[in-house]
Amino acid sequence: MTYKNIEIEFIGKVGLVRLNRPKALNALCDELISELGHALDDFEKNDEVRCVVLTGSEKAFAAGADIKEMAPKTYMSAYMEDFITNGWEKVTVCRKPVIAAVSGFALGGGCELAMMCDFIIAADNAQFGQPEIKLGIIPGAGGTQRLPRFVGKSKAMEMVLTGRIMDAAEAERSGLVSRVVPAAELVEEAIKVAEGIAKLSMPVTILAKESVNRAFETTLQEGVRFERRLFHSLFASDDQKEGMSAFIEKRPPNFKDN
Ligand code: CAA
Repeated sequence: MTYKNIEIEFIGKVGLVRLNRPKALNALCDELISELGHALDDFEKNDEVRCVVLTGSEKAFAAGADIKEMAPKTYMSAYMEDFITNGWEKVTVCRKPVIAAVSGFALGGGCELAMMCDFIIAADNAQFGQPEIKLGIIPGAGGTQRLPRFVGKSKAMEMVLTGRIMDAAEAERSGLVSRVVPAAELVEEAIKVAEGIAKLSMPVTILAKESVNRAFETTLQEGVRFERRLFHSLFASDDQKEGMSAFIEKRPPNFKDN
């Protein structure tokens, strides 16, 4: 499929999606969201892809949902089309890891999209914010729920109530991003991380992701119980035998996804 708002690249076992709507700073219009969903579905089905990197341009990861598209919406049109739920959340149901590589603006829906990914690597010029309040709305793609889980109530509340923008250093300090790299090296670095993940056992990677995500959905006791069951199940896998034998025999593991 040819896309108008995104670009797709395959780098070894890594699928790269680049949001590409430069004139609108990658504002997330319906068509872009639908293309992104399509690309993610294709990556999920493609056995050659083992990890995904989602990025934008150096100037903007994404400056939010498309304000020009949203402006005429009514309550009933937003409700009936199930705006946001329909399409946007695709990244949250990917089983393969999705790394957000964020440079420049990640505002509103752009910040929310990045937070839906498994982790965020930021360029030193990245800027994160939920400025929706200035438009007379509130974040609608999970910002009021995910941001406090990343940065705590005080900072999230301040950002949502004032629309203040956070720079990369503050984002790293407050736990929003896993680390900050120079802007010129962002995509290369994210791909390097993704390639590392792609070399590991795919079922174990998926289980690990599922287990970490459970931490945000359940109590500590239930989460630990869930983790323990997954952990036990891995002793039935060839990859556990291979990983541990390789360590003992001082050689690299040869995982078979089994
Ligand atoms: N939607 C639609 N178009 C947008 C956009 C958006 N979110 N953000 C930027 N653009 C467009 C601008 O309208 C402009 O287009 P024209 O050249 O046709 O006028 C173009 O992108 C370049 O933007 P600027 O001239 O404003 O660039 P700048 O460098 O001066 O400022 C900016 C950059 C600070 C990011 C500014 O564009 C801005 O504040 N954008 C809006 C950010 C925002 O409010 N995002 C939240 C959207 S609501 C949301 O996301 C809801 C949700 O939770 C899902």
